[in-house]
Amino acid sequence: MKAIKKAVFPVAGMGTRFLPATKANPKEMLPVVDKPLIQYAAEEAVAAGIDTLIFVTGRNKRSIEDHFDTAYELERELEAKQKVKMLSVLRSILPSHVNCVFIRQSQALGLGHAVLCARPVVNDEPFAVILADDLINFTSKPCLSQMVDLFNFQHCSILGTEPVPMEDVSSYGVVDGIEVKPGLMEVSGIVEKPSVDKAPSNVAVVGRYILTPRIFDLLEKTQRGAGNEIQLTDAIAELLREQRVLSYNFEGRRFDCGSKLGYLKAQVEFALDHEEVGAEFKAFLKELHAQHTEKVVPLKSAN
Ligand code: G1P
Repeated sequence: MKAIKKAVFPVAGMGTRFLPATKANPKEMLPVVDKPLIQYAAEEAVAAGIDTLIFVTGRNKRSIEDHFDTAYELERELEAKQKVKMLSVLRSILPSHVNCVFIRQSQALGLGHAVLCARPVVNDEPFAVILADDLINFTSKPCLSQMVDLFNFQHCSILGTEPVPMEDVSSYGVVDGIEVKPGLMEVSGIVEKPSVDKAPSNVAVVGRYILTPRIFDLLEKTQRGAGNEIQLTDAIAELLREQRVLSYNFEGRRFDCGSKLGYLKAQVEFALDHEEVGAEFKAFLKELHAQHTEKVVPLKSAN
């Protein structure tokens, strides 16, 4: 089987959970400290050996293209002012061997449809899908690199998963299967956003997939499912009737940056890890914590 060299980034979503911040700006361009979510996702792909980034975009997403393009005027200005550090930050957004392809998803028909839009570029190769609003922090190896390593050994589709509290299953694709190793399952079923009583487990798919190209044939035939959208999950349910699909509980901490709370938590963790601001930010948080937990002394009565 061919190596994983292409990653699809479905970025056409409206980001309604984050309005008004996402009224004119794509949610994937929301920054965590100093980098937009989509850049973290692109860096994760590149670290996993991917050289072709396929963005499936929609209306109001031009800034994503601009972000990965050369900004000549800005570079010239930084050069003139000899702002060498900033210049190198700008120039290292993507290494030169990486190509970006932008495909327009003209109808908002769901994640499955978005992935299908990438077919003409992916062709007959296995590929990765990354949902940029699932931001995953790591200690030793980024999530997609862990999954590519597993793929190179197992040569089958792999779903990045995480056990979630049972009451949250209805926000995710949820898998059923047999555990072959701790954290690794042979998937026998998958359901999109089940109610708690219908969920086969609490093992939820997060925004990382490695898929064989057979998924495209199945997506062509997939009817609208949950939310009246063409669901990637439904095509995966068909795929696993024909081919082996594994689910893999990755190592790392995931933040749902499509939700306000998840996004705020990501800001805090990434800010604490940040080499420029981390130490000061930590001191600030300590101070803030002390202020908030300080015993409130009632004011003495004037009488
Ligand atoms: C999508 C998928 C879902 C998956 C989730 C992960 O849902 O359809 O199966 O569990 O991403 O973030 P969305 O969050 O786009 O509704």
